[in-house]
Amino acid sequence: MMDEMRVALVTGAARGIGRAIALALAQPGIMIYINDVANLDEAALTQKGVEDKGAKARVVTFNVADAGAVQQAVDEIIKESGRLDILVNNAGITRDNLIVRLKEAEWDQVLDVNLKGAYHCIRAVSKPMLKQRYGRIINISSVVGLMGNPGQANYVASKAGLIGLTKAVARELASRHITVNAVAPGFIQTEMTASLPEKTRAEMLAQIPLSRFGTPEEVAQAVVFLASDTAAYITGQVIHVNGGMLMV
Ligand code: NAI
Repeated sequence: MMDEMRVALVTGAARGIGRAIALALAQPGIMIYINDVANLDEAALTQKGVEDKGAKARVVTFNVADAGAVQQAVDEIIKESGRLDILVNNAGITRDNLIVRLKEAEWDQVLDVNLKGAYHCIRAVSKPMLKQRYGRIINISSVVGLMGNPGQANYVASKAGLIGLTKAVARELASRHITVNAVAPGFIQTEMTASLPEKTRAEMLAQIPLSRFGTPEEVAQAVVFLASDTAAYITGQVIHVNGGMLMV
């Protein structure tokens, strides 16, 4: 890979897409900090999988919605590893409800984790990245952030917001060789989508030209590309991994 050790932080990496991202980034020469706030048994399995691929790994438990906890964790990473090259803002939640019934708490919880959490992490890593004149920031948005989806006003707003955040920060940090991009997955087979009613799943499938849900690994490959040195000339972009469901 490269001469120096690379250091990555993946949020919400205990399971699902975050775990697949940590595993796909794993190779000798990289240290991966696996963040989560729950599912800690699963986080330990992610760590084992990453180490099995020859990378170093550590689980860092914090809530991305807690600004102080994020800053403290990033400070500790810098103290321990001396740098932070790759941030993947993957932690995300849903609290679905139709707009007429959408409670303020449901709005706040989703925005606090999905959008504000990314802001906290980006703010905390940008200082060390500016100093080292290198960085890769990848935000996990969603196809619904571009298309909309009934019953998900809070989630859709957070995922559309992430795209705006991506573009603004990409412009701010570009002069120091820090790229900031988003990946917008379509419907991916994870615990998050497993709970969907059968009728909804069938309706979703009918909209996907490739006629299947995607896998976490397929999302992870787009992240690995954006995180690589090869992607140095790509910033402020959204890569769509959605089976053709939305073509932009
Ligand atoms: P998941 O629910 O399987 O995993 C998310 C992980 O994030 C969980 O382990 C959870 O504990 C963690 N997390 C939640 N809140 C957190 C917080 N405040 N701080 C730290 N960690 C936290 O979800 P999945 O499906 O793997 O989704 C990952 C990301 O991909 C999310 O941002 C989601 O919105 C996005 N996405 C998922 C799609 C899908 O079809 N599964 C489609 C498009 C986007």
